[in-house]
Amino acid sequence: MTTIHRAVHPARLRAADLTVGYDGFTVLDGLDLDVLTGRVTTIVGPNGCGKSTLLKALARLLRPTGGTVLLDGADIASRKPKDVARTLGLLPQAPTAPDGLTVADLVARGRHPHQSWYRQFSGADDEAVRSAMDLTATRDLADRPVDSLSGGQRQRVWIAMTLAQETDLILLDEPTTYLDLAHAVDVLDLVDDLSREHGKTVVMVLHDLNLAARYSDSMVVMAAGGIVAEGAPADIMTPDLLSEAFGLSATVVDDPVGGAPMVVPIGRCRRR
Ligand SMILES: Nc1ncnc2c1ncn2[C@@H]1O[C@H](COP(=O)(O)OP(=O)(O)OP(=O)(O)O)[C@@H](O)[C@H]1O
Ligand SMILES: [Mg+2]
Repeated sequence: MTTIHRAVHPARLRAADLTVGYDGFTVLDGLDLDVLTGRVTTIVGPNGCGKSTLLKALARLLRPTGGTVLLDGADIASRKPKDVARTLGLLPQAPTAPDGLTVADLVARGRHPHQSWYRQFSGADDEAVRSAMDLTATRDLADRPVDSLSGGQRQRVWIAMTLAQETDLILLDEPTTYLDLAHAVDVLDLVDDLSREHGKTVVMVLHDLNLAARYSDSMVVMAAGGIVAEGAPADIMTPDLLSEAFGLSATVVDDPVGGAPMVVPIGRCRRR
């Protein structure tokens, strides 16, 4: 396995010898991962290799059959769910909202971990919801039922809900799915701001290798339930790795904007 870290930041979130699966079948087997604090880490890999399983395990939604997930040095399984939800927010790959729930109500649900019987919805909650909707340009959708939105609008609304949670750690499973390229770039610029200006730690899953390379401090390349390479995009994105992880024949050039590695698949190439 290739492991190249450019800078050492203490990991607030760590998988140690993590083994996770479903109904007796193992997906991740003894996986180790340190999530770099304040940085953007992107997990890539072929369909079914275990990316979402890893994210769910990191967020305490799946209980490991072996090993541990450590949040701030403590086993995440021993922490109260609400306590975890104030520190770590997960946008799952295919979230579902109750029928008829409005956008404003869905985004407000991001504030639940901050409430209790003695602490009702406050001005700070209102402000967090408003700010999350501004950042995702979803304010004009506030009164619409979530189930009436287009795929891309819905995706932005779910991102707003995750941001309203105001956690230091944000896990996003394919946040750009359904988004047109302009909105995808907006979301990734927002991720960049969250990391650089607000010190958030972001772990996301993306399929677009070129956007992943451009927006990530570190990439984690998975295949068949394990990590095959990990490190700064410029250090790890090679034709050999793409062949090993994806079975993809490709060349890697410098992105003319910014110089990140850019993957150009060979495939069938014909002038049109
Ligand atoms: N709830 C579940 N019950 C049983 N098996 C599951 C469940 N969720 C995922 N799996 C299986 O676990 C393996 C890993 O799935 P996972 O969703 O983690 O893949 P992924 O890398 O996120 O793929 P994709 O790119 O398609 O989203 C697959 O074989 C999948 O069929
Ligand atoms: Mg997935």
